[in-house]
Amino acid sequence: MNDQASKLRILKKTQFQPLKVSNSVRVIAVTSGKGGVGKTNLAVNLSIVLQKMGKNVLLIDADLGLANVDLITGITPRFNLFHVLNSQKSINDIILEGPAGIKIIPGASGLYSLANLSENEINCLIKAFSNIDMSIDIIVIDTGAGISKNVINLVRASREVIVITTPEYTALTDAYAVIKLVHEYVEKIHLVVNKADNYKVAEATAQKLINTSSKFLNTTIYYLGFILEDKTIFQANMEQVPFYLKFPNSLSSKCLLNIGRKLLESELDSSTENQTVGSWLKKLLSFMLR
Ligand SMILES: Nc1ncnc2c1ncn2[C@@H]1O[C@H](COP(=O)(O)OP(=O)(O)O)[C@@H](O)[C@H]1O
Ligand SMILES: [Mg+2]
Repeated sequence: MNDQASKLRILKKTQFQPLKVSNSVRVIAVTSGKGGVGKTNLAVNLSIVLQKMGKNVLLIDADLGLANVDLITGITPRFNLFHVLNSQKSINDIILEGPAGIKIIPGASGLYSLANLSENEINCLIKAFSNIDMSIDIIVIDTGAGISKNVINLVRASREVIVITTPEYTALTDAYAVIKLVHEYVEKIHLVVNKADNYKVAEATAQKLINTSSKFLNTTIYYLGFILEDKTIFQANMEQVPFYLKFPNSLSSKCLLNIGRKLLESELDSSTENQTVGSWLKKLLSFMLR
């Protein structure tokens, strides 16, 4: 029998157990067209801000890049999803307690090769995610950059995405390319402009993307805000402390706080079905097995 087809059958059969405490989560993927625009910094620090605002946040590190979550937070994970797949560890063993109490699933870049997993491994992963033993309100996924099939699938499986760009022309056109590929799948596309010299530059940048997406894709982009170009972010990265914790009063931390507030104000339409960790993973697998 066709291998992909039999994996799809497994998916159809699998019933997901709701998470133990809260069973509906907001799944938000952070992505960009171009690398090095600030995804990991935004994913880590936004997770911290949301946690401080009273939400239970799980950060999934699915960025294959160099400066990934462990480097920015100074956390050295010993185990990752591969140990779960090998049955050496349970999912709850690999989830780390991060800064400000956020939870982190490290080294989840393995999610990109889901389609290559065996049926057994797929079952194992689905069970693992259904067994997450803690209450989670928001999942933030730090994805890789670019328009590779893997990253796009990860974004398409999420109900919400934050696209991050800098004012630079190439970053902007690459961001538009990502929006073009995901807009028919995700319910809400948020935008953050990073490394802006001032708010006017950020707003002009955002407006370009908003107008183009509206005109050519008939898609609404929600502008969440901007983060200024700020040397303290680089400094915080060097010291492996999230910038929001290292320099809470910096201008970039204030920018981030605004982004967090705006994100919490913008709830999705509750008339559509809620997303759970299980339904998100199932959707991801169904995209990957196509
Ligand atoms: N607002 C900012 N101002 C100055 N430097 C920044 C800013 N945001 C990110 N950086 C720097 O840009 C580089 C890339 O950031 P990172 O978050 O790793 O991006 P990505 O995950 O998209 O590759 C890092 O060196 C980081 O310190
Ligand atoms: Mg990164």
